[in-house]
Order: sequence, then structure tokens, then C-alpha cells
Amino acid sequence: MLSIVIFGGTGDLARKKLFRSLYNLYSKRMLPQNTKIIGFARRDLNTDSYRQFVSDELSDDLDLKSEFLECFYYFQGDLHNEQSYLDLRTLLVGMDEQYKICASKLFYMSVRPELYADVFELLKKTNVLNTCNSEEGGTWSRLLIEKPFGTNFEHAKFLDERLGEVVSEDRIFRIDHYLAKEALENILVFRFKNVMFNGVWNREFISKISIRLFEKRGVEGRGEFYDEVGALRDVGQNHALQMLALVLMDRPLQFDGAHIRAEREQVLKTLRPYEFVPEYFERAQYEGYADHANVSSSETETYFRVTLQSEDERWQGVPFEIESGKAMSEDKAEIVIDFVDGNTMRFEIQPEARIAFSFNVKETGYDYSTTAKSFEFSYKEHEMFILDAYEKILYQAVAGDVTSFVSTVEVLEQWRIIDEILTQWKTLPLGSY
Ligand code: BG6
Repeated sequence: MLSIVIFGGTGDLARKKLFRSLYNLYSKRMLPQNTKIIGFARRDLNTDSYRQFVSDELSDDLDLKSEFLECFYYFQGDLHNEQSYLDLRTLLVGMDEQYKICASKLFYMSVRPELYADVFELLKKTNVLNTCNSEEGGTWSRLLIEKPFGTNFEHAKFLDERLGEVVSEDRIFRIDHYLAKEALENILVFRFKNVMFNGVWNREFISKISIRLFEKRGVEGRGEFYDEVGALRDVGQNHALQMLALVLMDRPLQFDGAHIRAEREQVLKTLRPYEFVPEYFERAQYEGYADHANVSSSETETYFRVTLQSEDERWQGVPFEIESGKAMSEDKAEIVIDFVDGNTMRFEIQPEARIAFSFNVKETGYDYSTTAKSFEFSYKEHEMFILDAYEKILYQAVAGDVTSFVSTVEVLEQWRIIDEILTQWKTLPLGSY
């Protein structure tokens, strides 16, 4: 048996991603039998009206919808109030007693990040994460935490120390949903299970690596959150750096969570900003940003371009350019590897997952002029179906697989890199697009 508690049970993420992902797992019988999902939120709902709330977010053509809805329970609580946690604890213990079992527990923290410090404090005080579970007893209790984890290095360190007083590192699952995207996971297989790439994956043959995360949509209803954060912290500190880590990391001794994470950590430790000149750094805001609700800062960037380098000799001098923006002309997430003689390898993640390698061929005719052509692999053409990242995250958290989750070392290294940029780039003018 498994009890999942969603802190933020009526929030955006729950509505847009979690309910559907949980349904998918449920319908494939990939959740433990008798899974209960408890939505924790402030709204005045009860279990019946919460089930209706969840139902409204799911389409009607789902075969197992009505039995799935019966997994849901509602707990009206206030994250600032100690009593709420004590009551939640009583509820969880009561459910276990009812079934005469100690269920595993998954706590999903999907609340505004500025609440984390207070929530961690109350979790510690009320010990709600520790009811009857122990890994040795075969049942566990884990905490899933959404990004962003902290607002800078010092803050992340502070949060991490607070969190360390609540649960041990092996029970913390910090989310970066990009790590669970199929086309990014595939980079490791592509690089390490195809013998011809290893020898050229270094500064001698690669001249530049570019990472782009472009979205057509603007900040929409998230103005309040976004205004405090900006693009570099929102996606640069996490998704983009993890993409880079996957491209640069060494082959793991084994393809499992511990080894893959260790190699990502090693890469992040070597990264630092490129020489701070305008050619390598840019920040801008889209026109109309200031008209959004709850937006006050005229200084928040919605677009950035930064350039990093590695202290590892293997990559010395190679620029890693990371660029991301909201309200761009296209949706695009990709990694482009430029080789010295004009070849390019393109890992396209979104909107369609593809890999394209462009190579030189001889033009037909009388002389040796060359032209670029490409090999392509598209998931769609091969009818390879891609699962939603959140479905995988939930599955992996239940399975105890840490591959797609960010370690303490990673999160702190990521902030170290971003802090180094932030201290300097206030001097850059904020452009407009
Ligand atoms: C989130 C950011 O982490 O990732 C959002 O907070 C961004 O601002 C989103 O839109 C992008 O994720 P995806 O999976 O839609 O590319």
C-alpha cells in the first residue's frame, strides 16, 4: 500500500501534470495496490468535492476514471499551522490502522518555494514524514521537492541544512523534470553505446556547444512567481545546466542513479562563466511583460544568453552557450554540438524529439566541392512513444530510482555557477524584444 500526499493539492502543477500522470500509472497498474492520494490544500473542499475537482481536470474518455477517483482524499490544511501537520499525521496513521498495514509514504512538495523553510521547520517539529516507515521494514517514506530549490547558493545551503534535519539525503527526491525527458536520457545511450563518438567528444574536435530553451508562451498566470525569479534562475540554474552536464559527463561505471548522478556532479564542479564581455552575455525582457498581473519589476529578464566554460582540460576553451526565453517566436528545446570541420550534431528535445547529424558530402560533378547533408532519427517516424516526464518522475520516486533527481552537490554547484553570473551581469543593460 502507498499513501501519496500532495502539498499543493489544488495547485497548477497538480492540475496540469500530476493528476494525469498518476492516472496513467494507475491505468497501467504501475502504482502499488491500494494507493491513496491525499490532496493537502487550504481551499474549503471535502473528499467528494475534491474528487469532482480532480475529475474536472481529466478527460471523460479515460476507461478507469471513476475507480481512479476513488483513490483521492482531501485534507484541508494550512502549511503555516502546526496543527495541520499533526492532523495530517493522525489521518495517515488512521489509514494505516484501518488496513492494518504500514503503507509507504510519498510526500510531494508542490508549493511556492518561498514557503520551503517554514514548511521544513514544521515537518521537523511534527515529524509527519516519519510515521511507521523504515527502509529495512520494506516500507519507506520519501519527500519529492519541486524546483527552484533556493534563490542563490547561500539560500539553497540554508534550505538544505534545514531539510537535512527532517530527512536523510537518500529520502530526498529533488525534481528537475528535464532529467526525465526521454530525448535527454537518450543522450547518454547515444554517446556511450555508440563507439564512434567517444574519441571525438573533446576540445580537439568540438568547437562549441549550444543549448536553447525557447517557449512561445509568456509568463501567463505565473507573474508573481516569475517576477521574483527571472529566466536565468527559472530554467538556467536547473534544466539548462543539467542538459549541459549530460552532454559533457564521463561514462558512468554503471547506468544507475548513483553513478550517473556522480558523473553529473563532477561536470558541474568544473563549470564557470566565460570571460565576462557583452559578446557572451545578454539579458532582455519581452515587450508587454510589465502588463502582466502581479508583475512589478522592470528589471526581471525573460530572456538570457550566457556562456560557460569548463576547467577540465578535455574541454578547455570550448564555449558552452546557454540561451533561453519566454515569448519567443518558436517553441524549441535543443542541444547543438558544432564540430571543428563543419559537422553538427543536433539533439532536438521539443517540440519533436529528433537527432540529426549533418555531415559533408562531395557535390556531384567534376571537382571536390562539398555540401552538407544529414542523417536523422525521429522518435515519431519510428513510432517510439514518449512518456510524459512527470509520469516517469512519479514512477521513479516510487521505485526509489534517483537517476532523474538532483543531489545536494548538484543543486549547490548549480547555484555557485549562477551566482557567479548574477554578481556580474547587473552591469549589463536589459534589452527588449
Ligand atoms: C519549468 C519552468 O521548470 O519548466 C517554466 O518553471 C517552463 O517556466 C517549464 O515553462 C518548461 O517545461 P517544459 O517541459 O514545458 O519544456
